[in-house]
Amino acid sequence: MTERIGTTCVQGGYRPGDAQPRQIPIYQSTTWKYDTSEHMGKLFDLEESGYFYTRLQNPTNDFVAAKICELEGGSAAMLTSSGQAANFFAVFNIAGCGDHVVASSAIYGGTYNLFVHTMARMGLECTFVSPDCTDEELEAAFRPNTKCVFGETIANPALDVLDIERFAAAAHAHGVPLIVDNTFPTPVMCRPIEWGADIVTHSTTKYMDGHGAAVGGAIVDSGNFDWMAHADKFPGLTTPDVSYHGVVYAEKFGLEGAFITKATAQLMRDFGSIQSPMNAFLLNMGLESLHVRMPQHCKNGQAMAEFLSEHPKVRFVKYPGLPTDPYYKLAQKYLPNGSCGVVSFGFTGGRAAAEQFMKSLKLAQIATHVADARTCVLHPANATHRQMNDAELEAAGIAPDMVRLSCGIESTEDLIADVEQALATI
Ligand SMILES: Cc1ncc(COP(=O)(O)O)c(C=O)c1O
Repeated sequence: MTERIGTTCVQGGYRPGDAQPRQIPIYQSTTWKYDTSEHMGKLFDLEESGYFYTRLQNPTNDFVAAKICELEGGSAAMLTSSGQAANFFAVFNIAGCGDHVVASSAIYGGTYNLFVHTMARMGLECTFVSPDCTDEELEAAFRPNTKCVFGETIANPALDVLDIERFAAAAHAHGVPLIVDNTFPTPVMCRPIEWGADIVTHSTTKYMDGHGAAVGGAIVDSGNFDWMAHADKFPGLTTPDVSYHGVVYAEKFGLEGAFITKATAQLMRDFGSIQSPMNAFLLNMGLESLHVRMPQHCKNGQAMAEFLSEHPKVRFVKYPGLPTDPYYKLAQKYLPNGSCGVVSFGFTGGRAAAEQFMKSLKLAQIATHVADARTCVLHPANATHRQMNDAELEAAGIAPDMVRLSCGIESTEDLIADVEQALATI
């Protein structure tokens, strides 16, 4: 029987046998004990699968990762300590010093920092392209040392929708995978692998957890990208790993397992960015209602965008569900049942009006957080994106007066009433 997404949200990943705990057990243990060193040695050699130290793997995490893997339609997945760690691992697993990445310019500010500043210090270069670039501009961004293409399904906070099929085709034409951060739609609203993405990442801190309780991330591999067919580009997967007794990940773990096994065995071992089992447990609680919450987020987002777009003090509204939005057509294709609860908008009164609006909200609360059950609001130019100058803000699609309103799952009428009274104070 083919399971529908709601069933996977509730029951995926962990299917207990007879007389086993119904809820995912929290393996709150750093270590596992073994009767013989030989047995443990087999785990270290990747000869047998099993657990020995929670810096690398933990069963609670693996149950929850397996659920996210099923939700995205992938072949293997892992949890990370944060969304930042997920995006870092996804790229660094296949690209290093002397390599190059092509990324959409409309991405989360933290990911932008990671690519432009921190990864640059590691010798990795990044070329940004607008998600609206022409095919020629996209083509021109590639170099012989390009190792992947990166974008967000719906960009935070610009809300541009990525043409996943077009970016996947360009990546594949150059023999590299497309990595898509699918944090905003979640697999309930869009499954990028079905459109050609090879690797999907998440900040599970957002809708997946949904309750502002646990920072976390996830990486899902589609198992579709053939590393061996492009062996010269990806020596880390296709040649022996001296730090693991010469294992060749792509040979030993195949299309389905190579990427995640390498990220676990090498990157998690060396960087240790594991999600705590307790956080993984909390994340699973969020996932169990994801398919119920997402439609309400989308309903509130849509109603709010429609209300704002008619308001005289509002200069512009960005929301892919508005027929006037430049991304409406792409949203109809990739997000036919709704996009997300986040609406970005600006004020006829400019930056000062944005600041006044922020001060006057009562229900919606100022938080750096987004994609939460409770409505929250942020002025990015004053917070997450304050490291960018005006030109960089422009390229990322962020106006200085732009406010990001993340509609929660409260009653629609109450949210609109709050925004209406705050606009009246300007
Ligand atoms: C789209 C997107 N990706 C990644 C991240 C980073 O995630 P985290 O805060 O869990 O590290 C965020 C955080 O806001 C995000 O919105």
